[in-house]
Amino acid sequence: MVSWTTCVFILLLGFGRCLVHSYYTEEYRPQFHFTPEQNWMNDPNGLVYYNGQYHLFYQYNPNGTTWGFMSWGHAVSTDLVHWKHLPIALECKSDSNGNVLEMFFSGSAVVDVNNTSGFAVPVGKDHHGKFIYSTPMVAIYTSNYPTAHTQSNGAVIRAGQQSQSIAFSNDNGLTWTQYDGNPVIESPPAQYADQYQQFRDPFVFWYAPSSKWIMVASLAMEHILLIYSSENLKDWTLQSQFGPENARFGQWECPSLFPLHVDGNKNIVKWVVLMGINPGGVITGSGTQYILGSFDGTTFVPDPSDVYDPTQIPTGSTVFQDFESISSSFEELGWNATGDFSGLGPQNASTVQVWDIMGYLGTGVLTTYLFGDIAMGTITSPRFTITKQYISFLIAGGYYPFNPATAGTPDDNQVSFSLVIGGQVVHSQTGTDTEDLVWRNWNVAGWIGQEAYFIVTDVNTGPFAHLHVDEIIFSDSPKDEGNWFDFGPDLYAAATYNGLDTNHRTVIGWMNNWAYAQNIPTSPWRSAMTVPRTLALKTINNKVRLVQQPVSSLSSLYTSKLYSNQFKSLRAGETAINVPAPYNARMKLTVQFSRGRGTQFGVILRSNTTDTQETVIGYDFLGQNVFVDRFSSGDNSFVDWQPNPYPGRFIATLPTKSTDCITLNILLDWSSVEVFDGQGLAVITSQIFPLDDSAQVKLFSVGGTTKDVTVSVNGIKSSWT
Ligand code: FRU
Repeated sequence: MVSWTTCVFILLLGFGRCLVHSYYTEEYRPQFHFTPEQNWMNDPNGLVYYNGQYHLFYQYNPNGTTWGFMSWGHAVSTDLVHWKHLPIALECKSDSNGNVLEMFFSGSAVVDVNNTSGFAVPVGKDHHGKFIYSTPMVAIYTSNYPTAHTQSNGAVIRAGQQSQSIAFSNDNGLTWTQYDGNPVIESPPAQYADQYQQFRDPFVFWYAPSSKWIMVASLAMEHILLIYSSENLKDWTLQSQFGPENARFGQWECPSLFPLHVDGNKNIVKWVVLMGINPGGVITGSGTQYILGSFDGTTFVPDPSDVYDPTQIPTGSTVFQDFESISSSFEELGWNATGDFSGLGPQNASTVQVWDIMGYLGTGVLTTYLFGDIAMGTITSPRFTITKQYISFLIAGGYYPFNPATAGTPDDNQVSFSLVIGGQVVHSQTGTDTEDLVWRNWNVAGWIGQEAYFIVTDVNTGPFAHLHVDEIIFSDSPKDEGNWFDFGPDLYAAATYNGLDTNHRTVIGWMNNWAYAQNIPTSPWRSAMTVPRTLALKTINNKVRLVQQPVSSLSSLYTSKLYSNQFKSLRAGETAINVPAPYNARMKLTVQFSRGRGTQFGVILRSNTTDTQETVIGYDFLGQNVFVDRFSSGDNSFVDWQPNPYPGRFIATLPTKSTDCITLNILLDWSSVEVFDGQGLAVITSQIFPLDDSAQVKLFSVGGTTKDVTVSVNGIKSSWT
């Protein structure tokens, strides 16, 4: 006879298993990326390594799956791979009427080993009877105060004010006490007093040469970073400011400042400013840029080679068209305009009846905003021969990318500027949902000597369905707007760990984009972090660049090789490879290859049997770029407004020689891809939401063979079971 208690025990065991089994298995649930069990998450905060633990705090809404009630969630890991959820560290405060008084916005954390703050408490006595003290962990964050009120310490708070505050923990980050002298920096400096609602995201670190804490915080709308110093984390003195430089649209958020060795040489150090920009990122919405320079304890000075004056064009470049002839028609300039643009020409930018256009050079621009957004047609350039390696141009407008699958069909909604060679669109750029013209460039080295033309296509009358183009130039060096840290749409608010040595600077980004973040189709959580990545500075083509690769500890989740193969010459077309479930949805795939007779090579992931769904990742030998195409990657119905910022093909320029062996390391999780070239320079992070039956993995080679292809696949085990 089985006893009653045994029955209950067996039942409970079964139930427990069942629970364990269904943990982190919801549709789209990342298997090796950090996600909260439930609710909304945005920026990583307070990344600090201490006592063998990596702390990850994060912007968290305890009450729902969209932004609000911002608090600091908390998790820890000993390997940056497996995470343990801990109780909320700093919880949003409301008054008895339900008015939110204080939200805990983004910030950083440090371990105050010298007890400069005085927050340490006695935790026992040694054998001589002397007190042993705790080591305080201190969080430095932005207090965002939605409601005007007077705090119990007398501080008078204005509605919408953002101030910098601190809290401390004497139990390794588990429980937190807010400092009773908060806020520690109440307002921005006097000359920016009106920016008191846009002053945030303090990143603090210990600067040993002057034995001081340094804080960098953002004046978001001014595109200015303020640098403060302190001896005790409570009293802060403004030292200097930096910016605006490079990509300077929307808001600057979540800045950080840290040193790295150049090419692994301990004697050469450069300092890196890393920051979020939103909107105005490389695709549309959120993006991340970095600037290299030096820091002396008070001031960040950018390297002259790392700041780009948008009004200067590279020496030796040829201007193809600057659209300055505003009294000429396109026809008179040798261009051809159709539809609503026929008979028209470049416009005086200052008279175009749209929100202020900015960033153009001179007076005139090409614009498709004529009678509002309703104008439709094409504007085509004269033919020319490609003679230089890059084409650069200024562009602004709505995000309606060229999609080869719909171009020319009734579903076509592009508003784009494209380069056509041999009857094919080989490069295309749409607006980034701003009226500020930004520089973009195309590598055209693969087509030198060939005939080409530009075409502006606006077949859309929806909101923002217009484009402005200016200053088309040909040059042998690209005209950059800034240094993008990641060329995909889904890496924002990147933050790095305090407490690790310079060679182990580790970054985690929020793998989402404010342009659609609150609509992605996941439940009961929303948003994931990128995999932690190790940063380095590498000299590439005579320029020092910030490079990144997944942390090495991620390999502890890899299965043994599930597939590996070599092809001396991979034929044109698609070649299926067999990766068994469940690893066809979560794998590390590495391909190495060289140019053959083909023009593109890559892999197709999460493809279904009818090829109506696929995520395409590859290298374009002619356009010289790594790309991720998520036009057909799965569900994109969650965006129900125009311009739809979600679909697209994302490119990262990566010049190579025809003899080079190119490496792509790809991490596929259920709802994301992260692609790194072998150097960690061309990196693309993109969410995808494929339907479950899309499980095929294929290699492809376009237009001919690809040579010396090596493929290897490891499955990635779940870090949540
Ligand atoms: C960036 C950001 C920060 C702010 C936080 C609020 O994503 O807007 O500037 O501190 O999110 O959640």
